[in-house]
Amino acid sequence: MTPDLLITDARLVRLRGPDPCAAIAAQTVAVRGGKITFAGDADGAPAAGAHTQIWPAEGRLLTPGLIDCHTHLVYAGSRAAEFAKRMAGASYAEIAASGGGIMNTVAATRAASEDELIAQSLPRLDRMLAHGVTTVEIKSGYGLDLETELKILRCARRLGELRRVRIITTFLGAHTTPKGAEADAYIDDVCIPALRTAAMQGLVDAVDGFCETIAFTPGQIARVFATAQALGLPVKLHAEQLSNQAGAELAAQFGALSADHLEHVSADGIAAMAAAGTVAVLLPGAFYALRETIKPPVAQLRAAGVSLAVASDSNPGTSPMTSLPLAMNMAAILFGLTTEETLQGVTRNAARALGRHDIGAIAPGLSADLCLWDCTDPAELTYRIGDPPLHARIFEGQAC
Ligand code: NIG
Ligand code: FE
Repeated sequence: MTPDLLITDARLVRLRGPDPCAAIAAQTVAVRGGKITFAGDADGAPAAGAHTQIWPAEGRLLTPGLIDCHTHLVYAGSRAAEFAKRMAGASYAEIAASGGGIMNTVAATRAASEDELIAQSLPRLDRMLAHGVTTVEIKSGYGLDLETELKILRCARRLGELRRVRIITTFLGAHTTPKGAEADAYIDDVCIPALRTAAMQGLVDAVDGFCETIAFTPGQIARVFATAQALGLPVKLHAEQLSNQAGAELAAQFGALSADHLEHVSADGIAAMAAAGTVAVLLPGAFYALRETIKPPVAQLRAAGVSLAVASDSNPGTSPMTSLPLAMNMAAILFGLTTEETLQGVTRNAARALGRHDIGAIAPGLSADLCLWDCTDPAELTYRIGDPPLHARIFEGQAC
């Protein structure tokens, strides 16, 4: 089949096979209809036709497009003033308890029109794309009422129409209890009905929750997960970020795609995740910004065979960052991941954390989401501190 695009002379990192992070020189990738049809030595490549675009990579590194599998990208306002308070000694939990924190962003997000929300979120998305991202997961959770949760999810979908990027939406109604409400009543009377409505409107790809002393108990999260299961939606969980609540075990019990944060995960939680195939999504931005000292137990996760992903957790409270390569650098420096693990963490393991088999690697049949980098060593992407040498981003076979 005649390709639409032939990328020649690339140094290819496939993220597939026994040595997924090996960079192989002088490789060709063929694309047709937005999908990869061939990746390998030039002599096996399909022949170019009259309309084939030929793109000489001139020895540059070619990787899958990066996948940010955990973000809260759509919100209004800024929490710089709270950051100043925290730097002056207040804790994240204290600020949350006094009505700030997530509720601060909820108020701003409720007040913003859909267009305002897009106008504030689009520049953040653009910065992500400029650092090589081709898929972004976006959570709701700054609405905490039906109307605003739907508004956030609609904005997330619209962002995917405004830019050449794949957006995957996650319903996070169980983020915190809104002011004046009682947690059980909020879950049963607001969160679960909102999830049903959002799912009916086709706005939800997955369901998340925040299992924490300052958020929801495992019992409350289980009710949300049971609804997700009944709707045929996969689940994931903010688990063991600030304390151990056995959230990892709960997530595993529901066959969760991922459990995220995990600084305080126990040996039992790790074993449950390994048995369920639940991916550990590490979020060093939040760890860094909260000046946490307990790290996720990377050695134990590794030993148990749990797949590790890395994400930006882009959010206004605990991780106001938009650079996924910066998260890769932080995951290496702060958590001790190898440069191979950080690269797998933002490609094939991030795809797994989203339940996607069509992205995250370079192989025939997969979406042609690719990044060309002005370097030859894959370690360069983690080594630089949030300054990736992106040459070109290709989404579904088109440079953008
Ligand atoms: O992933 N952990 C809960 N949610 C976010 C923080 C949200 C916020 O503070 O606005 C997180 O860290
Ligand atoms: Fe988060």
